[in-house]
Amino acid sequence: MILLRKEVALVGLLATASLAAVTGLRNRQAEPSNFKLYAYSGEVIGGFPIFYADGLAYVGNGSALTGADEVTAVNLTASTGGTWTATPIDDVSWSSKVFYISNTTGEIGFTDSANSSSNIITSGFRFYGKFALLSVSGQMEASWNAKETGIENVWTLGWGSVDEDSSLAAVMLRNAAPMQPPAGE
Ligand SMILES: *[C@@H]1O[C@H](CO)[C@@H](O)[C@H](O)[C@H]1NC(C)=O
Ligand SMILES: *[C@@H]1O[C@H](CO)[C@@H](O)[C@H](O)[C@H]1NC(C)=O
Ligand SMILES: *[C@@H]1O[C@H](CO)[C@@H](O)[C@H](O)[C@H]1NC(C)=O
Ligand SMILES: *[C@@H]1O[C@H](CO)[C@@H](O)[C@H](O)[C@H]1NC(C)=O
Repeated sequence: MILLRKEVALVGLLATASLAAVTGLRNRQAEPSNFKLYAYSGEVIGGFPIFYADGLAYVGNGSALTGADEVTAVNLTASTGGTWTATPIDDVSWSSKVFYISNTTGEIGFTDSANSSSNIITSGFRFYGKFALLSVSGQMEASWNAKETGIENVWTLGWGSVDEDSSLAAVMLRNAAPMQPPAGE
């Protein structure tokens, strides 16, 4: 079931990419200057926004995550090196953080730009059309996943492949909002 969703998503990505190539709209170099990220996974996650809560990146309805101290939607900007810098929309204790993936756990969150930990990836994020990818050793990869939190319409965003028995759903991240906001946002 989850595997099927992943395949559908990847087919969708390829179809979009080749369509863009044909119509000449594709531009790998131009990174968006101010964007928001939305997660898509079949019918279950139909374009929920990525938001910040207590240092981590989540997908879904931020208002529902009542157990967190700090929750905010974020605007993002991309540097030429593919570092994404988040600006909070709501009033929180910070004004700027960089998006990271832990390359030991696959955890995804937002940290101080000065964080020089060797266990986090903070650059190499790219767009292919509107799809967010990570450049790893010269290869573009998209292994975004979403894990249920037990709260309706809230998932943690992570990185890593999804197999059949997994509690994770493979998601695509796009810098485009859905035509219609998903129910429950
Ligand atoms: C977030 O981006 C929108 C445009 O997409 C802009 O109107 C808004 O002012 C930005 N908010 C912050 C806090 O930067
Ligand atoms: C740097 O990132 C690591 C890995 O996520 C984290 O454990 C650590 O707390 C961060 N340090 C700071 C100062 O944010
Ligand atoms: C994680 O990524 C950083 C930067 O890309 C690299 O220096 C480090 O060796 C990696 N660590 C692991 C455990 O793969
Ligand atoms: C988002 O969560 C809040 C808090 O649980 C809830 O009141 C709101 O209705 C949810 N949004 C939608 C559109 O369901």
